[in-house]
Amino acid sequence: MRVLITGATGALGHDLTMVFAGHDVVAASHESLDVADRDAVLQAAGATMPDAIVHAGAWTNVDGCELDPDHAFRVNALGTRNVVEGARLVGGRVCYVSTDYVFDGLGNRPYVEWDAPNPLSVYGRSKLGGEHELGPEDTIVRTSWVCGRRGKNFVKTILERARSGQALTVVDDQHGCPTFTEDLAGMIRRLVVERRPGLFHVTNHGPTTWFALARELVALAGLDPEGVQPISTAELNPPRPAPRPLFSVLDNAALRMGGVPLLDDYHAPLERLVKELLAS
Ligand SMILES: NC(=O)c1ccc[n+]([C@@H]2O[C@H](COP(=O)([O-])OP(=O)(O)OC[C@H]3O[C@@H](n4cnc5c(N)ncnc54)[C@H](OP(=O)(O)O)[C@@H]3O)[C@@H](O)[C@H]2O)c1
Repeated sequence: MRVLITGATGALGHDLTMVFAGHDVVAASHESLDVADRDAVLQAAGATMPDAIVHAGAWTNVDGCELDPDHAFRVNALGTRNVVEGARLVGGRVCYVSTDYVFDGLGNRPYVEWDAPNPLSVYGRSKLGGEHELGPEDTIVRTSWVCGRRGKNFVKTILERARSGQALTVVDDQHGCPTFTEDLAGMIRRLVVERRPGLFHVTNHGPTTWFALARELVALAGLDPEGVQPISTAELNPPRPAPRPLFSVLDNAALRMGGVPLLDDYHAPLERLVKELLAS
């Protein structure tokens, strides 16, 4: 199978490139392929003739998107339109990576794939705009709270600050499921190779809050978890430009009901990542 990966040097894109080894992988970084450039995307599709495009490229700066909606929609929504058009030109399918931020977080039970989205932020709306570009033969993978070795993420930021002795205040009223890039990439590979179309929620198990996750990872690093104190989102000073859903736990219902083994609980991959980051 020939697979074209967009955003291939991003946190998830890097691990996607690794897990598709053994297939014919074309890894396209932002620099080599700007998905907002329709001509470039159509040309890349024509030149590489992929069976599948795994579309992980996105403008993921949630607060940046709030301040520049045109750029957010240009990359995340129109960029996805270009990728789908490119795939169709060569008879390929698309696997699009989307987000828990398509939900408003006002629910009180984990969201299933059949719940109605209602994004609060420009980022969430632009990613939902991307979802609407996909066809029945394509796959959408919604995930949440992505952490890994590459790029900027919560685990790395908290670990760095805690190791430099900074006192930390972390929000305790946003609930979600941390998801680790290696595990997520492995599930995406499976869905693509098995040619499973449709919408899937894919996260590691175990809902938590950012505060509880911070304490846990600080303790795993052998530091004092009491150095992390809880605050509410309303207490953030300054407030962040983009609103976040307070409850965005995703029930991986379509995988579960489809008999696909779910990803592990988040604790083991968290421990692995903290160890790796401490060793690096
Ligand atoms: N991070 C999360 O918590 C989270 C949660 C849910 C869903 N997701 C989704 O997961 C996917 C992977 O995100 P990630 O966590 O790996 O974030 P990431 O590290 O920011 O990766 C995104 C990649 O997309 C690239 N990109 C940005 N604009 C682009 C463009 N116009 N054309 C092509 N590539 C472009 C970025 O390149 P530059 O950095 O060089 O601009 C980066 O390499 C995204 O679709 C994101 O929406 C992420």
